[in-house]
Amino acid sequence: MPHRFAAALAAAGLVTAIAATPASAHPGPHHDTTLGELAAASHRYLGSATDNPEFSDAAYLKILGSEFNSTTAGNALKWYATEPQQGVFDFTQGDQVLDFARKHHMSFRAHTLVWHNQLPDWLNNGTFTADQLRAILKNHILTEARHYRGKVYSWDVVNEAFNEDGTYRDTIFYRTLGPGYIADALRWAREADPHAKLYLNDYNLEAIGPKSDAYYTLVKQLKAQGVPIDGVGFQGHLALQYGYPDTLQQNLQRFADLGLDVAITELDIRMYVPADEAKLATQADWYARVTKACLAVRRCVGITIWDYTDKYSWIPAVFQGEGAALPYDENLQPKPAYDAIRDALRDAGRPGRH
Ligand code: G3I
Repeated sequence: MPHRFAAALAAAGLVTAIAATPASAHPGPHHDTTLGELAAASHRYLGSATDNPEFSDAAYLKILGSEFNSTTAGNALKWYATEPQQGVFDFTQGDQVLDFARKHHMSFRAHTLVWHNQLPDWLNNGTFTADQLRAILKNHILTEARHYRGKVYSWDVVNEAFNEDGTYRDTIFYRTLGPGYIADALRWAREADPHAKLYLNDYNLEAIGPKSDAYYTLVKQLKAQGVPIDGVGFQGHLALQYGYPDTLQQNLQRFADLGLDVAITELDIRMYVPADEAKLATQADWYARVTKACLAVRRCVGITIWDYTDKYSWIPAVFQGEGAALPYDENLQPKPAYDAIRDALRDAGRPGRH
């Protein structure tokens, strides 16, 4: 158990010895059972996002493919990557991630068909009538979801459709097509891949509040109208300075009670760097609490962390002075958060707990 060894060294003040440990010295699983296996014992998945540039990092891939039983592509399935020119599709990068998942018996969350961000220039800069944009959207969804038909567990069909106050986000789709674009997108996704679970996905949805209330109202309406929707994804981009979302479990439960699956889809817990023992302990506690919240809700199907190592986190590039958000450090060594997730999963998977 190399990370326990590392923790012992740290306790003994031999931190430099850890720093000197080459990252590749301990690749692969750190215990006899993996996070994925522990999650599977509770009929859940424990996944990690990944991204194509990381495929040249063998030590990274070894852990990704062994420790987790689900993955998603952090960028490869977004519109800018899959339809870089109008009507010209490229699934090379997405296929690379999916192939890896299949080889390693991981389920695959597909992310994302409709999002206002990372759109190709031709779409961002174009001027389209409602009819034209509807045709573009339909063709994009049908073509991409058909390409992955039968191969993905779920699709984040529409990503980040609402503002913080619960109003619709002003995107090219909302502006041009009105709120009905969401129902249309879900219907086209179902048409293209009848077996993929169809999700709406967003951030700052963890606590009960105006934004999650807006989703609650919308998915209730969609279900009442017979629009195909299977789940809601709670991204889970948390930050120590903003406090833990205490109503998470209750919030997950109220969506589940509508007859939906729920999932934590992009979990990371950032902090101001440098990290210290106290911050890492709080972070570990939060990872455990999120894990337990999901495990306590029968229809919470799993947790995906937004990559597993600080080496490849999106945080430092976007939030200046913040980072250390993931359960493995930059040297691919497990942090206290890793053990916290493990313990939460293991406790839940013990016979008699469910
Ligand atoms: O592809 C270019 C590359 O050509 C260029 O050399 C490089 C230089 O910066 O940039 C590359 O693009 C980057 C892209 O990721 C692909 O690596 C962008 O700059 C960068 O902004 C982009 O960040 C992604 C971000 O979404 C964009 O909003 C992150 O990797 C990705 O993890 C992140 O994921 C989102 C989810 O999709 C939705 N929820 C929030 C989450 C975090 O922002």
